[in-house]
Amino acid sequence: MIPGHFISLEGIDGAGKSTHLNPIAEWLRTRGHEVVVTREPGGTPLGESLRQLLLHQSMHPDTEALVMFAARREHVAQVIAPALARGAWVVSDRFTDASFAYQGGGRGVARDHLSHLEAWVEAGVRPDLTLLFDLDPQEAHRRVVRGTPHPDRFEREQDTFFQKVRAAYLERAAAEPGRFCVLDASQSPEALFAQACRALERLGP
Ligand code: TYD
Repeated sequence: MIPGHFISLEGIDGAGKSTHLNPIAEWLRTRGHEVVVTREPGGTPLGESLRQLLLHQSMHPDTEALVMFAARREHVAQVIAPALARGAWVVSDRFTDASFAYQGGGRGVARDHLSHLEAWVEAGVRPDLTLLFDLDPQEAHRRVVRGTPHPDRFEREQDTFFQKVRAAYLERAAAEPGRFCVLDASQSPEALFAQACRALERLGP
């Protein structure tokens, strides 16, 4: 039995999840919880080095998936599992669903390979709640163009890539409705935050 709670935030680039990460963490802290805020790819010194490669160095889609999961293995072992074991709440900007969405849906990496890696790398550590910020790729793209002077190689992808990523996210959400909460990211930031908090309340006090 893992005493802590694990929450992941997901969505296509520009959907607004990173904006809500710290407000969600603060909201949990006001309720008296120890909160660890982290991200993927990244979250450890090795993971942050791998992140630089992943965001800026072109590579085969299978390699991309393997490096994502290598960074994740380190993240689970060094950060997430120890935090959950001591009863903390972990809020991660992305986790395994992103690999199914981007590498699986976007790049076409075989789902079977991803499922094997998922079981190996997670070693039983899975989000209790995944907030999926769902937004039309054209609107998300407009937001990325407005807010990102130097887009990375994912942010430079076309709308068709993000349509596939979005569809893969929604497929994961439909397969696990108990874990996912799909948020309409086209609403105002205030309404979106309120919807996220209602989902968090369902995890307990
Ligand atoms: P993110 O930190 O959300 O981007 P930003 O800092 O630009 O808001 O994630 C970086 C990119 O990594 C994002 O475009 C999605 C991609 N990614 C994958 O393709 N697969 C994965 O498993 C993860 C965790 C991220």
